Amino acid sequence: MKHHLFSILLIGALFLSCKVKPTEEPIVESPAPTGSISSVSYGMTRDSIAVEEYTLKNKNGMEVKIITYGGIITSWTAPDKDGNYKNIVLGYDNLAQYQRSTPYFGALIGRYGNRIAKGMFTLDGNTYQLPKNDGQNHLHGGPKGFDKVVWTVTDSKAEGEGAVLKLKYLSPDMQMGYPGNLEATVTYTLTGDNALEVDYAATTDKTTVVNLTQHSYFNLSGDFSTNILDHELTLSATKYLPVDGTLIPTGELAPVSGTPFDFTSSKVIGTDIAAENEQLKRGKGYDHCWVVDGEGMRLAASVHHPGSGRVLEISSNEPGIQFYSGNFLDGRLPVPGGGTYGHRSGLCLETQHFPDSPNQPAFPTTTLKPGETYSTKTIFKFTTK
Ligand code: BGC
Repeated sequence: MKHHLFSILLIGALFLSCKVKPTEEPIVESPAPTGSISSVSYGMTRDSIAVEEYTLKNKNGMEVKIITYGGIITSWTAPDKDGNYKNIVLGYDNLAQYQRSTPYFGALIGRYGNRIAKGMFTLDGNTYQLPKNDGQNHLHGGPKGFDKVVWTVTDSKAEGEGAVLKLKYLSPDMQMGYPGNLEATVTYTLTGDNALEVDYAATTDKTTVVNLTQHSYFNLSGDFSTNILDHELTLSATKYLPVDGTLIPTGELAPVSGTPFDFTSSKVIGTDIAAENEQLKRGKGYDHCWVVDGEGMRLAASVHHPGSGRVLEISSNEPGIQFYSGNFLDGRLPVPGGGTYGHRSGLCLETQHFPDSPNQPAFPTTTLKPGETYSTKTIFKFTTK
């Protein structure tokens, strides 16, 4: 009996010790998810300069493809509310088409994003005449702007949960009529939280003007056979810049309140785009610069596509943002894989200084002097809701 009790106690103790003691399993450390970058040849320009295509990937699977020609973002995937990644920017799949005809799809814009009236301005008593490539005005740096040159890669690396691509372009004195040798750098940084940061910097050896931007056309549905009129837009702007018949700002900072230009709270883009309004007539839709409220790095715009749930938030330290509703897209340019880009199949939100600033002294200055460094930043961040 005694013996029996002892055995029961022993078995019980053993049982308990087995239960309590944590099972020792070898700890297998899975490597932290990281970003990556790779490159392939993208062919030769018409003037025989080799072009590379870089693919930046972050830990979630967001993928941004950038070519050295024009620093163009040719494709950019973002997740919908079910986690499906799809390309959400308009573009082509070959260099020949980019060289043949493009409304600045995905490109870096310089030296001066947007319009300069009659392509003329005066600096330090010297008058400069730039080529007119938009009726009587100069647009997006002229017929061979920064969107049509091959940039040099000065750095490309995986970094943490994302990747970095650094591009440089030396624009010689008087190129496209602008004074000064301008050294421009643009750094694209893809982060682990689905943001693409774009850092612009420039220096000059003669007083000049600079206004760099990025010209991606977004369609957050990822279906380029649809238009963007169902996207909901919010702009952190209580004022915008009305334009004359040639899309040059009149100089007035007009309140958006009570006009079709009021996007201070989320509004479906199609709601007012066809309203009877002289400014909309001049732009053939929205093609205006909004004055972003506040200063420094701040949220400028937010776009939501209800169907997919994709949300794009754009923050910048620039004073303005041009909202262009793709009014000049007319079904002539090819979509890779079939079809054409129809009217308003993409929208642009270009953070920048105000158009025609060199001729409008009341606007924030775009003058860059030797010894100064031009430096601006814009962040494009994707989420879902
Ligand atoms: C301008 C439009 C122009 C387009 C070129 C936009 O930045 O605001 O007026 O047509 O670029 O495709």
